Amino acid sequence: MDLIKQIIEAREFIKSKYDGKLDVAVILGSGLGKLASEIENKITIKYSDIPGFPESTVAGHAGELIIGDVNGKKILAMNGRFHFYEGHDMSTVVFPVRVIKYLGVEKIIVTNAAGGMNPEFEAADLMLITDHINMMGGNPLIGANYDELGPRFPDMSEAYNKELRTLAKGCAKELGITLREGVYVPVSGPNYESPSELKMLRLIGGDAVGMSTVPEVIAANHMSMKVLGISCITDMAIAEGLEPLEHSTVVANANRAANNFVSLVKEIIKMM
Ligand code: 6GU
Repeated sequence: MDLIKQIIEAREFIKSKYDGKLDVAVILGSGLGKLASEIENKITIKYSDIPGFPESTVAGHAGELIIGDVNGKKILAMNGRFHFYEGHDMSTVVFPVRVIKYLGVEKIIVTNAAGGMNPEFEAADLMLITDHINMMGGNPLIGANYDELGPRFPDMSEAYNKELRTLAKGCAKELGITLREGVYVPVSGPNYESPSELKMLRLIGGDAVGMSTVPEVIAANHMSMKVLGISCITDMAIAEGLEPLEHSTVVANANRAANNFVSLVKEIIKMM
């Protein structure tokens, strides 16, 4: 079926559950799942019930859309996302973002867990994403362009909206939360990086490395959405003295940062 028809079919399914206003969408990465429990007047929709959505396969990643209230705003939260390393096509990875745009949402907050490559960072820090370098080896816009969604050659000069970044920094300051800033570099995964890969990713200008987010950011920019990105630094990814890394460490540090992460995102939503 035609992509646009699929987007509309998913949109209509969601609208059959909730057909009111939506102020902002949030993709909840590792460590931000806790925000889901703080959404009020919730409507929860399992991904597996939405036409065109595949099921998320990573343990510890839920798979549901939650629509509800946070600090006076109506939000749509993606609790769990689709990763390229799960074997999904890039177009599948970004399908929910396209549906979100078709629901009339113009602003999206994207979050993730990432390894810190900037030596000034520490595990459990939060980092405002200022820009990215796509090293995933894929791009969701490859293939026929859908002019209804956006242009063939989309601009990426301000992939992370300047006004939203300023707002986020103001919120962090207000709350007394340290907010680092830097360039996010996604790789395909699923393995963590070798020391030599980390050296290269740092050398090309990366401050944090992860396995997600950028496909969604590219698709959102294609559709002229305003994007805000925040990484939770779950471990230090520095070549010199690199120690073995396990997913459980990533999860543990994401949990350590969760309170700050949730407070900051809630404050940003309030001020948006
Ligand atoms: Cl992709 N790499 C490293 N080193 N740490 C991470 C990560 C990746 N994602 C979350 N933490």
